Amino acid sequence: MNQYIDQAVESFRTLITEQLERQNRMEAGAEVKDFSRMEKIVIGVCGGDGIGPIITREGERVLEFLLKKEIEAGKIEIRTIDGLTIEKRQAVGKAIPDDTLEALKACDVILKGPTTTPHGGSLESANVAMRRELDLYANVRPVAVPELGIDWIFYRENSEGEYVLGSRGVEIPGKLAMDFKVTTDAGTRRIARAAFEYAKNNGKTNVAIVTKANIMKKTDGTFSAICHEIAAEYPGITAEDWYIDIMTANLVNEARRSQFQVFVLPNLYGDIITDEAAQIQGGVGTAGSANVGDRYAMFEAIHGSAPRMIEMGRGEYANPASILKAAAMLLRHICRTQEAEKLEKALAVANEKVVITGRNTGATCKEFADYVMDTVTKL
Ligand code: IPM
Ligand code: MG
Repeated sequence: MNQYIDQAVESFRTLITEQLERQNRMEAGAEVKDFSRMEKIVIGVCGGDGIGPIITREGERVLEFLLKKEIEAGKIEIRTIDGLTIEKRQAVGKAIPDDTLEALKACDVILKGPTTTPHGGSLESANVAMRRELDLYANVRPVAVPELGIDWIFYRENSEGEYVLGSRGVEIPGKLAMDFKVTTDAGTRRIARAAFEYAKNNGKTNVAIVTKANIMKKTDGTFSAICHEIAAEYPGITAEDWYIDIMTANLVNEARRSQFQVFVLPNLYGDIITDEAAQIQGGVGTAGSANVGDRYAMFEAIHGSAPRMIEMGRGEYANPASILKAAAMLLRHICRTQEAEKLEKALAVANEKVVITGRNTGATCKEFADYVMDTVTKL
């Protein structure tokens, strides 16, 4: 037993040292890319696994359609990035193969299909690895249901918390298992800043800081305290502390939920509650997700790779609404606001008019995208 303890203590030293270095790098800050001034923007598209390549292909087609002139003028390039498949990742034993990572880093923004993560084993999620490698610290997930008065935006911390050491826990087989959760000052400061800046720039007056600081005293306690420090710089905005459990209930509390506007929260709570929120909007297939850092940004569908749909031969009936929503967020991020608005409007019409059931009783993925593009031409 002692040998396990010695090993764990030794690896804990390494973990703390590495995390401290990461916090110091964040504190030093990074250069922020300004898309409104760039001469050329490279959009990388990677399909991923399962239904990923099917829905992403439609996302790419819609982007090509909306950005046609700028692509022809060489101001925007859409580049296919191969290699982010479970087969290749398993073959090289890496969450993101080296050459794929290099190709991703040569892009400015990325549209990404869902990737499969095996349960257990040592292969890390490609998603989590990409967020870390490109330092995509803000996971921004909007959810709107106008008829219910719901207009939410979630700022989920995307680079630390329960995820950063997710595959580096400690285990004494047959006895115990421990994972780690890490909250850094600089990491919290930048997500809090992003949330409050969004609130300020979009006329929002309320930010909910969602934690479980009564139990996770060190990590969530720090998260909440730093969010309040940042909040103090934004006089017109009320910062409210909420616990994740009651917030989960409040999202389905009709008397309360329409009062929430902006949420800022640690990684795992954000992961869970944004699925709930997306379900209220009509399902995880309807939500888009932006993973934003100072230099790169990646936009993806909020749902998984749905391997069962492929097994059952129903892949072509996958709903591309989520990846198209993500494409609209990508357009907004690179300051193509008009194109983003067109896509959002057409998407809202398509969501209402096109029946998509995930099987041959409804429209195909391609038909849905065709309808979206057709609607754009009529706007
Ligand atoms: C999400 C997903 C990912 C996460 C998975 C695929 C690693 O659930 O983007 O919400 O847990 O963050
Ligand atoms: Mg999730």
